[in-house]
Amino acid sequence: MMPRVLEPELMDDPEQALAYAKADFEEENQGFVDRFLECYPDFTEGHILDLGCGPADIPIRLARALPKCQLTGVDASPPMIRLAEEALCAAGLAERITLRCERVQTMVLPVPADAAISNSLAHHLPNPLQFWYGPPAGLL
Ligand SMILES: C[S@@+](CC[C@H](N)C(=O)[O-])C[C@H]1O[C@@H](n2cnc3c(N)ncnc32)[C@H](O)[C@@H]1O
Repeated sequence: MMPRVLEPELMDDPEQALAYAKADFEEENQGFVDRFLECYPDFTEGHILDLGCGPADIPIRLARALPKCQLTGVDASPPMIRLAEEALCAAGLAERITLRCERVQTMVLPVPADAAISNSLAHHLPNPLQFWYGPPAGLL
């Protein structure tokens, strides 16, 4: 069994957030979106929640692929959310993607989502069981 290597929970250093936002994750992020589309071909409309959305590259790709969907991206890092806001504006998708600067463990959505996605978050969470077994009330 591999030992778990926990990273600091939030990427809230502005330089670190900017470096992450500038890194090229096109192959990984588009692959994530392509797998979602392959696994759930009937999911063409509804509300998708992205837990730990970072600079929102995956929600932007999903929004382009699923034009009838609304998305909410959640990230508790203020600098990461600022970068995500800039990316949404540049993509012209600020109307369809809502951002929330909150910890996923404690957030409550006004309207439950129809689907939840998450990429590269679990290794930041001190208690990953909250991620796998305990979605907070009102998320799904
Ligand atoms: C490695 S990045 C992944 C970002 C994005 N999902 C992607 O694939 O590009 C992990 C993100 O999760 C955020 N994060 C970590 N713990 C969190 C928590 N408890 N609640 C909300 N966001 C969290 C970090 O601030 C960071 O932006």
